[in-house]
Amino acid sequence: MSRQFPEGFVYGGATAAYQVEGETRTHGKGKVPWDDFLAAQGRFSPDPASDFYNRYPVDLELCQRFGVNGIRVSIAWTRIFPAGTGALNQEGVDFYHALFAECERRGVVPYVTLDHFDTPEAFYENGGEGFLTRSTIDAFVDYATFCFGEFTEVKHWFTFNEIPATAEGSFIVGNWPHGEKYRLDKAFQLMHNMMVAHARAVVAFHDGGYEGEIGIVQNLEPKYPLDPNSAADAEAARMADVINNRWVLDATFRGHYAPDTLEAATRLAHIAGGELDIRDEDIEALAAALPYCDCLGVNTYKCQFLRAAEGENDIHHNGTGDKGSSRWFLKGVGESCVREGVPTTDWDWIIYPEGLYDLLMRIKNDYPNYKKIYVTENGMGYKDDFEDGFIDDAPRIDYLRQHLTWIHRAIEGGVNVAGYFVWSLQDQFSWTNGYNKRYGLFYVDFETQKRYPKASAYWFKNLAETGKLES
Ligand code: BG6
Repeated sequence: MSRQFPEGFVYGGATAAYQVEGETRTHGKGKVPWDDFLAAQGRFSPDPASDFYNRYPVDLELCQRFGVNGIRVSIAWTRIFPAGTGALNQEGVDFYHALFAECERRGVVPYVTLDHFDTPEAFYENGGEGFLTRSTIDAFVDYATFCFGEFTEVKHWFTFNEIPATAEGSFIVGNWPHGEKYRLDKAFQLMHNMMVAHARAVVAFHDGGYEGEIGIVQNLEPKYPLDPNSAADAEAARMADVINNRWVLDATFRGHYAPDTLEAATRLAHIAGGELDIRDEDIEALAAALPYCDCLGVNTYKCQFLRAAEGENDIHHNGTGDKGSSRWFLKGVGESCVREGVPTTDWDWIIYPEGLYDLLMRIKNDYPNYKKIYVTENGMGYKDDFEDGFIDDAPRIDYLRQHLTWIHRAIEGGVNVAGYFVWSLQDQFSWTNGYNKRYGLFYVDFETQKRYPKASAYWFKNLAETGKLES
């Protein structure tokens, strides 16, 4: 059957500064924690990545040619303020002006994130713990306000990328810089502090009278009981949902945490041995931003099936693509399982496209004051086969088609979805997996930096040019 997307729908491709730009220690850029973390790991380097710092005109020309009319980029905070605050790096400012000018020239609209996993290293020095240290909130608001005033050519802003993923990597799975495992107290606190920073930046955007829209991008993931008839499994799914979804959605669209959300978070923090510090002025800040959050970016790849179980914490991240090597058991929550008949990727990510429909409908029903949603990331990562310059990525096309079908159904169900960004525009490295987990519409030969359109790029071009999805 043929499905028609609405007029004005955005057909985008997504990138993130650290994953594409390269030039991480040149042109005046300051350090981020990933620099030393990746160097110490010795698995792969963030340089030259996809060399976007030098090749963005090539990628934007491809966008134009393949109907990609929106691009998610992020500004590297440390290209603007190398030490997070204080001295400005004019070369970094000039780089982003040049990038946005090229976007304009190619008819590709930039959707700009202020912090995509690259909070400056400076905030981790002298006893600092990034956003766990509250002065980082003030620094973020200053940096955001600078960007709003400087980059007036940008009309679509997102404060942060994926606060729950940041908390998970930093304090639950512990496979990020400064990572600690099973510290749900710190995970909730980090998300809370970052949500306050988001809220204050949204208010600054509104008070400054800047033109355009502002929102936040989150990795939202449907959580289901493994056994639909088990009340205990349903409770496990509810707890996982609080961690991944409800905590940040309540903060964004209620302006406070609903009592059962707060109770669950407090309980999980206690199990991890800590307390939450939620102050009255924080809640006032969340509430003040309520009317001005214009849009929500939803990044979505997978879902989780939960089984209630007792036991000790045990999480192992599959960062290699060895299927079946991941484990996820969290005290106070339960165990993550694969439901029979539901496919998974080589990285054990559960492919469940109808979950996206459930998620979108749930936002509409539970948070009726949301205004607009963009699906800001969706895609399938695997080791592409490259044969004589051609990449037949049929499984990726199928994945994208299925997810877009469920998005279309959600639009029919009354959800305001305004655009879709494929993760990723071109191949780029994956933070905890490296260069062999490819997602791009455009294949990157990381030796030569040459780009090759994959079969999915031609498929996406047809969709973008006709607005029609054959499903
Ligand atoms: C999102 C991030 O979490 O998912 C991206 O915004 C990331 O930066 C993408 O690369 C895919 O995740 P992964 O772990 O496969 O690279």
